[in-house]
Amino acid sequence: MSNSSTTQPSHNQLDTKAQAWSALFSEPMSDLVKRYTSSVFFDKRLWQADIMGSLAHAEMLSAQGIISAQDHASIEKGMAQITAEIEAGGFEWKLDLEDVHLNIEARLTQLVGDAGKRLHTGRSRNDQVATDVRLWLRGEIDVISGLLGELQKSLVETAERHVEVILPGFTHLQVAQPVSFGHHLLAYVEMFKRDAERMADVRRRVNVLPLGSAALAGTTYPLDRERVARSLGMEGVCQNSLDAVSDRDFAIEFSAAAALCMVHISRFSEELILWMSQNFGFIKIADRFTTGSSIMPQKKNPDVPELARGKTGRVVGHLMGLITLMKGQPLAYNKDNQEDKEPLFDTVDTLKDTLRIFSEMVGGQLNPATGVKEGGIGVNAEAMERAALKGYATATDLADYLVKKGLPFRDAHETVAHAVKAAITEGVDLSELPLATLQGFHPQIEQDVFECLSLRGSLNARNTLGGTAPAQVRAQLARHKARLA
Ligand code: ARG
Repeated sequence: MSNSSTTQPSHNQLDTKAQAWSALFSEPMSDLVKRYTSSVFFDKRLWQADIMGSLAHAEMLSAQGIISAQDHASIEKGMAQITAEIEAGGFEWKLDLEDVHLNIEARLTQLVGDAGKRLHTGRSRNDQVATDVRLWLRGEIDVISGLLGELQKSLVETAERHVEVILPGFTHLQVAQPVSFGHHLLAYVEMFKRDAERMADVRRRVNVLPLGSAALAGTTYPLDRERVARSLGMEGVCQNSLDAVSDRDFAIEFSAAAALCMVHISRFSEELILWMSQNFGFIKIADRFTTGSSIMPQKKNPDVPELARGKTGRVVGHLMGLITLMKGQPLAYNKDNQEDKEPLFDTVDTLKDTLRIFSEMVGGQLNPATGVKEGGIGVNAEAMERAALKGYATATDLADYLVKKGLPFRDAHETVAHAVKAAITEGVDLSELPLATLQGFHPQIEQDVFECLSLRGSLNARNTLGGTAPAQVRAQLARHKARLA
């Protein structure tokens, strides 16, 4: 018989997982089941949060007289050593001990004896893991928020240099109206600004303490949960123990915000890919973000934006995974929740890497010798402008011109359609039609029409708040710069 109630507990009860819940079990897990159920090889990433949570818990246990000051001191000492061991790479993670929590607790007990065994008083792995994931995610959200700020700054700096550069604005990917390249880039700044706001909002709900909920119903010890929350810098305490240990909505919310942010990156990627194709020729990105082809010597492929577009699918997939994970789980904790970690970790890693790369790809890298950023997006203003001259991008301006002369907009629209048709037949731009020809479409057209048919005239005319006129773009730039400073 391998394990029965008559077996005496060993000195080191937590050497293997089966010993963690001990006497009740009559047979050990098979290796396959061990591997299937354990999470240590991915959740060890939570070790810092786990130790932080444990130290706050132990401090409170001691302050409440639930454990002695001496035990508390031993726990602190043991945790300091464990921290050093993990940082030095010398900590031995054991599959047998299932997860990060049991691994650390077992080592603590090995180091400090009974004090280590008292740490779990008034606590369960259910509230422990929920706390750890929240603490870890809070830290990552802070990193991501910083990176979103950097990316916005890169875009703002690039926009600032290109306020007067004109490219065709598209709808349906058909040339629509001329826009400032700076204005176009600031559209993405708005998106990433909202992404940062979403992250900040999610953070408020992440930063709440489950610890003290124990397995599901609370605990019989006189815990001071508020004290633990304060010492962990959390904004509050989860108010329902069942909810606290079971819901992962905070992780799902984060994933949704991350997925949306990746969708913005993906749209931007799509534009970068189009813009750098020979058919557009609008931009260049630095060689270090591209690769060649093994067969076609002339190729420079935009691998980084393409991969970012591809990785968006992966992050959106993680959101689907997490939200589906929650569906159908009865209260309270279920082991299903262990599956929250890998998608969450991968989402964080993918988003952080992508944001870092994009900041640099757009804005360049600081040259410490000159103090200037180099190697950001290269803009071919001429190619952009040439493209804007194709496709009758100022047709709306001609219609607006006629409206100002008293025509109802619908009639002006119709008149301009005739003019565009004639220009297409002649193979010229509207601005290249002689005044006499234009007057044939409407007698009130005069010499000043050419001002509004020019790209620059069209741009300057869109001088409403949020419009593409350089004056508006400069006002937006000033607003963003003040905000991001
Ligand atoms: N590794 C587990 C997780 O990630 C920890 C909580 C386990 N709790 C339990 N009652 N089995 O969710």
